[in-house]
Amino acid sequence: MVDLATDLGGVKLTSCVYNASGPRTGASAAMAKIASSAAGGVLAKSATVSPQKGNDLPRVWHEEDGAASMNSEGLPNSGIDYYTDAKTISDTMGENPLGKPYMVSISGKTLADNLEMLKKISSAIEGGAKISAVELNLACPNIPGKPTIGYDFEQMEDVMSQVSSLPCFSGPKPQFMFGLKMPPYFDRPHFEMAAAILNKYKSIVSYSASINTIGNALAIDIHAEMPAIRAKGGFAGLSGKAVKYTALANVKQMRELLDPSIAVVGVGGVSTGEDAFELILCGAQAVQVGTCHWNEGPKCFDRICGELKDVMRRKGYDSPDDFRGKLKEWS
Ligand code: DOR
Repeated sequence: MVDLATDLGGVKLTSCVYNASGPRTGASAAMAKIASSAAGGVLAKSATVSPQKGNDLPRVWHEEDGAASMNSEGLPNSGIDYYTDAKTISDTMGENPLGKPYMVSISGKTLADNLEMLKKISSAIEGGAKISAVELNLACPNIPGKPTIGYDFEQMEDVMSQVSSLPCFSGPKPQFMFGLKMPPYFDRPHFEMAAAILNKYKSIVSYSASINTIGNALAIDIHAEMPAIRAKGGFAGLSGKAVKYTALANVKQMRELLDPSIAVVGVGGVSTGEDAFELILCGAQAVQVGTCHWNEGPKCFDRICGELKDVMRRKGYDSPDDFRGKLKEWS
């Protein structure tokens, strides 16, 4: 019997395929549709301390054949209090007969904001909120005037050092499963530097998710002879099928360099079960779907999980454990 269930840092995902933070994750009504699909869990939109509208429109662009998308959303979200609120969580997860995990993502404007949000999540959990995991986004490319944290290794080290000193991480076991969303890297020394920082904090980091969008891409509206997107001079995060190859390479290299106790989550350009299979073969413990979910809606999880099961059946695999990280090498 083919079973897609997997364990991510001690959290049980009913399927190793679930949603990426971002599209269709801003409100409980949209997230409830993910919860009732075949997705293995629900991950909310990256939160800031206060609710915010995000960048001016137009801020998204799609290639007509679906090969690529771009966004400069600028983190529109309902604020951390919304995503940690018991009503939001119950409206999202409903009866939750399978016990799917609900996970929160944070992307503070400053380190102080991230620390404040982690403290709020900690108190919400103490108050009974069923939050299984937190993903700290170190990779948003769309905030005017703010560099991507994951590209500034000094800043990244500072973030990790201060986060790891919070009380929620001071016990023998962190209060919640904790992962990081990473930007794509393109050069081996950068992979090595990023992985070295995460390895230093392996006692608190359960997973590293690669990749966020490829930042500072540019789409042109040929009729208007202008950038297709308004914010940041049109420079925006590239996603969709075009980025799968960068995602595969990032998962493979992070898996090689990270301590075995840190799982790698694959994200970027997944639109079929075959894509998910490829990421798992490169070492992904689980696979997130962003742009395809944006374009197709939550039924994409049913389709992608079904396709992944079909591939596994054809190859005689029962579980993702049977082929994870087993990409063969040329002799
Ligand atoms: O491409 C992205 N867009 N990545 C993020 O982390 C945030 C999002 C946005 O809201 O701009």
